[in-house]
Amino acid sequence: MKPAQLDRRQLMLAAGLAAVGAGAQAGANPGSRPLTLGTPADPQLLRIAFGSCAKQSKPQPIWAAVRAARPELFLFLGDNLYADARDADTLRQRYAEFRRVEALQSFRRDVPHLAIWDDHDFGDDDVGGEYPLKALSQQLFCDEWGEAPDSPRRTRPGIYEAYRIERAGRSVQVLMLDLRFNRTALVADPALKQGYAAMYAKSKLGGGAMKGWYLPNLDPAATLLGEAQWAWLAERLAEPADVRILCSSVQLAAEGTGWEGWSNFPLERQRLVDLIREKRAEGVVVVSGDMHYADLSRWDTPACYPLWDLTSSGLTEVWDIPTPNSRRVSEVFAGVNFGLVDIDFAGPSPSLTLSIRDVKGDTRLQQRLSLDQLRFPKA
Ligand SMILES: [Fe+2]
Repeated sequence: MKPAQLDRRQLMLAAGLAAVGAGAQAGANPGSRPLTLGTPADPQLLRIAFGSCAKQSKPQPIWAAVRAARPELFLFLGDNLYADARDADTLRQRYAEFRRVEALQSFRRDVPHLAIWDDHDFGDDDVGGEYPLKALSQQLFCDEWGEAPDSPRRTRPGIYEAYRIERAGRSVQVLMLDLRFNRTALVADPALKQGYAAMYAKSKLGGGAMKGWYLPNLDPAATLLGEAQWAWLAERLAEPADVRILCSSVQLAAEGTGWEGWSNFPLERQRLVDLIREKRAEGVVVVSGDMHYADLSRWDTPACYPLWDLTSSGLTEVWDIPTPNSRRVSEVFAGVNFGLVDIDFAGPSPSLTLSIRDVKGDTRLQQRLSLDQLRFPKA
C-alpha cells in the first residue's frame, strides 16, 4: 500500500508526530480551536517559538538551538520546505525529501507545532492564487501537518486557522493566515526586474541597499486574503483574547522593501487595521518570515495602536544584502535564526518579549512590550 492511501491521521499518530492538527471541529467557521499544551514550568509564562525558510536539502543545525530554548509551541511560518514545483510528482517528491530531514522531523515529534505555508511550500517562488496545483498542495500540506480528515483546513479556500491557548486565566489567540491561496498576482517593475543582476552585483560589492522589483497594487479588486478568509478573520477578531499572535508568512509592517509583503497590497493592509479597530481587537502582535533575515518593524497608524512585526527568517536561508524598510526599528540579523514570543502574565502589567536567537542560541534582537502598549487609547 502506498503511504498516500493510508489514513494520514493514523499515520501521524503511529509516528508519534506532535502536530496539533488532530481534533479539528466540524463546520465551516467554528471558533478558534482550543490548544492544550503540556504543563508549563511556570504557570504565569508562555513561550512560543517560530521560524521560516528551511531548505530540505541543507543541514538544519538550528533545531538544537530551538529545542534548547524549550518552547511550548513552535509556529512554522512558511517556506517550511522548498517545493518549487510545476508538476504534481515534483510537489510530492519535495515532501518526501522534507520527511527525511531528521533533525527537523525529530523536533516535530517532540514539540507541539502549527504551520502555515508561504510561496515555496505552497508551490513556487512568489506565486499566489494562480498556482495551478493549489488543490493538490492544500491536500499535501494538510496530510503532512496532521490535519484530521474532517478539518476545515482541507475544504476552505486556503489553510488559514485560529487557535486558543488558556494560560494564567488569560487567553492567547494564534491567528494563522493564508497569504497564497487567494492572492492576486504581484505587479513587478520590468526595468527593476531586468536590472536585477547589475543591482545585485552593485549591492554585493558596494554594500548599498537593494530594493526589490514589486510595486504596490492599488486596484480595489486585488486581494491577499480573499473574501472568505476576511469574513473568517472578522469572526476570529471578534472573539475575546488578551494576546493575539498574528502569523503572516510575509512581512506585514515593513515598508519600501520592494520584495514580497503586505506593502504590495496597501488597501488590504489598511483593511486589516480597520478591521482590528472595528472589532476593538487588542493585543495583536505580528510574527512573519520569508525575508532570509530577521528584523523588527513597527507600524504606527492612526487607525490602531502600534503594530509590531517581528520577522524571523531563515532556519537555513540567509540574505546578507541590506534591504530598505522604513519601519524597521532594529538591526538586521542575517544569520540563521528563530524567533521567540515570551508572554509573562505575572504582575499587574503583563508583558511580551520578542526575541531573535541565532544557531548558538544567543539573543541577537530583543524588544519588550507591555500589553498596555497593545491597546487602543482611551477616548
Ligand atoms: Fe517566501
